[in-house]
Amino acid sequence: MASISSISLAITARWRRSKPFRLVSCVVAFLLTASLVILPVLSQQPVEISFIMLAPETPFFEPLIREFEEQNPDIRINMVEGPNEANLVEDLNTSAYLLGSSPYDLINLDVVWTSKFAAAGWLMDLGDRFPEERRAEFLEGDIEGSIYNDTLYRIPWRTDAGVLYYREDLLNEVGAQPPETFQEMVEIAKQVQDAGSAQFGYLWQGRQYEGVSAMFTEVLKGFGGYWINPDTNAVGLDEPEAIEAAQFLVDTIRDRVSPTGVSTYIEEDVRRLFQNGNAVFMRNWPYAIPLLNEDGSPVQGNVGTRPMLGTEGFDGGGCLGGWGWGISSMTSHPEEAWRVVEFFTSDAVQKRFALEAGFTPSVRSLYQDADILAEYPYFSDLFEVVQNVAPRPLTAQYAQASDILQRYLSAAFSGRTNAEDALNAAARETRNLLGVAQSGAAEPTEGSAPDAAPTSEPASESEPSPVPDAGTQPGTQPAPAEPSEVDAEASPAPQPEAQPEPQADEPEAVG
Ligand code: GLC
Repeated sequence: MASISSISLAITARWRRSKPFRLVSCVVAFLLTASLVILPVLSQQPVEISFIMLAPETPFFEPLIREFEEQNPDIRINMVEGPNEANLVEDLNTSAYLLGSSPYDLINLDVVWTSKFAAAGWLMDLGDRFPEERRAEFLEGDIEGSIYNDTLYRIPWRTDAGVLYYREDLLNEVGAQPPETFQEMVEIAKQVQDAGSAQFGYLWQGRQYEGVSAMFTEVLKGFGGYWINPDTNAVGLDEPEAIEAAQFLVDTIRDRVSPTGVSTYIEEDVRRLFQNGNAVFMRNWPYAIPLLNEDGSPVQGNVGTRPMLGTEGFDGGGCLGGWGWGISSMTSHPEEAWRVVEFFTSDAVQKRFALEAGFTPSVRSLYQDADILAEYPYFSDLFEVVQNVAPRPLTAQYAQASDILQRYLSAAFSGRTNAEDALNAAARETRNLLGVAQSGAAEPTEGSAPDAAPTSEPASESEPSPVPDAGTQPGTQPAPAEPSEVDAEASPAPQPEAQPEPQADEPEAVG
């Protein structure tokens, strides 16, 4: 009689020869190979880090991205080309978050977006990754613009400050020195225009978009006015200095010192028009300097720059602009995202942005860098300009406040309302937004007096709602806010501007 063990051996041998056994063996062998060979290969697939970039700046990033990817084969960067205008890029980022899960790991943050994105909980705290010693190497305004509620959410990679451009050759023709005040500038512009040497006197950004708020911030400073005092939330738009500032700009159009089309122009429009040689003065950011002096430029070698103008009794100063990286609180790859941020904000990369694009660095020492000074000697003067800047109000409700200002300035520049009515209405709407009492109740305090630049501390009295304003939805012009009772009595809120046809001698607005 066969023993139990010999029976089991016979069964095992037969099982080993059976088809199911061979099938199971194949599957096991495949799984083993997969785990030893295929899975490690799969797990080495690079992590993708995505962000949106302003269209005109993508060409400067492309070679850097290739270089980063070569040095970091485990990371792939997906740069999405956005629109030309800063606030449209903001809208795209905002709507990505509102949809519930932003596909972007990084956000290239304009200095005025930090508070809004941080208040909404969309940014990671970067404080521990960016120690005090490194912060001290950066421009103060850039760091202040990266902080919300004492927490650092943004690492700057370039700063910005508005400057006045002038044509040295045309000023020489009429024997004029570069102006100190807005009034002097207009006088010189008229002289050159009357002599027939230039068609346009002064070019500036007047379209209804973020650039108009930046431009107006510095005219306000030059006239001794203010927009919002961040300490008290006092609104200064209906103060005489602010109305005078707006009236000054309206008059440049009325007197044909500025073309009527200026109310539709953004930075690149005015840069191109100035570069064609038809204008005496221009307000723009420093990125335009290398472009104006490139080979083939009709104004090559004839352009001077100086700090933004003041008026009798008030110093001028450029508006603080600039960009920095934030990491999305929704990213699944914070470590890889941080490695990208470290690269893009490094001294070496900021230096390349300065040399290749003329961008003004956030790292202070680069203003004394021998290679940069050899290429652009004006960088030593720019250091003073970028330190003496007028910030826009750094509150979480900035986007809404800027929408209001843009809308009413646009109405004044295109002649749909006068400067005084426009700024009175803008002031009322801004007070409604901030929840402060209407005129009189929130008088400016000492700190908000002319020339006392607002600090970057966020407004404390009215804690922002984390839900961004409807005015920043993508693809829409900012909708006029609901008129309040007070507003209803005043001039009606102007509608978003229908862009006028560009004149034959003026460029089509880009973007
Ligand atoms: C520049 C500035 C930015 C500003 C924008 C307005 O990009 O750096 O701060 O908001 O212009 O157009």
